[in-house]
Amino acid sequence: MNTESTKAFYNATAAAYAQNFLDELNHKPFDRYLLQRFARENKDKGKMGDLGCGPGHTTQYLSEQGVADIVGIDLSEKMIEQARMHFPTIPFETGDMLAFDKPDQHFGSLIGFYAIVHFQEEQLKNFFEEAHRVLKPGGQLLISFHIGDGMKRVDELLGVKASADFYFHEVDPMIERMTAAGFSIIDMMIRYPYVGKEFESKRGYLLATSQLTIGNRQ
Ligand SMILES: C[S@@+](CC[C@H](N)C(=O)[O-])C[C@H]1O[C@@H](n2cnc3c(N)ncnc32)[C@H](O)[C@@H]1O
Repeated sequence: MNTESTKAFYNATAAAYAQNFLDELNHKPFDRYLLQRFARENKDKGKMGDLGCGPGHTTQYLSEQGVADIVGIDLSEKMIEQARMHFPTIPFETGDMLAFDKPDQHFGSLIGFYAIVHFQEEQLKNFFEEAHRVLKPGGQLLISFHIGDGMKRVDELLGVKASADFYFHEVDPMIERMTAAGFSIIDMMIRYPYVGKEFESKRGYLLATSQLTIGNRQ
């Protein structure tokens, strides 16, 4: 799905999205566990970027876990408005994770919760290469996605008429894309949906580290 259409979709749905999802972590113990672990392992390793942060609830949760140097980044300016309004003490900025306006090795760690769900093959490749570029050597990347194949078109979200394509991805090709971009996989985790609490898909969580290459080995 192209970037402009994705931005338009989230600008249109930002307020409804925030209202519906800001407290979702209360009902998702596995996600909380992963965020706690990610915070513990990365809070002292440089700036953490929460990519596709939406209304900022994951950014806030990571901050509560002791991550002081964190920024939430999202394509949609309306999402960033929501995030700033709800969590005024945390820095949020607009940005495109397919083309970061950041120098190489800017971040100590990166997380993208359901942020890649609109990406197709070329965009995934682009994203992992960009993430690898802006991560410090040895930095961690945690992503989550809906497992499966194909695409689901929605023309309405939470009562707002707006269209988007959501892509499902299989685990092994995702691992291959990440390793091709220079990541080493630490853990692959799958959970089944919390029925009645969220869209009923099987979910994948991949934790990886940017590999040291000969050029930047210390
Ligand atoms: C499904 S929402 C997930 C939001 C939040 N992480 C959560 O867990 O609820 C996907 C988010 O990714 C953002 N996004 C999509 N493509 C992006 C891009 N290229 N760069 C930055 N953000 C992007 C959207 O604007 C949207 O807020």
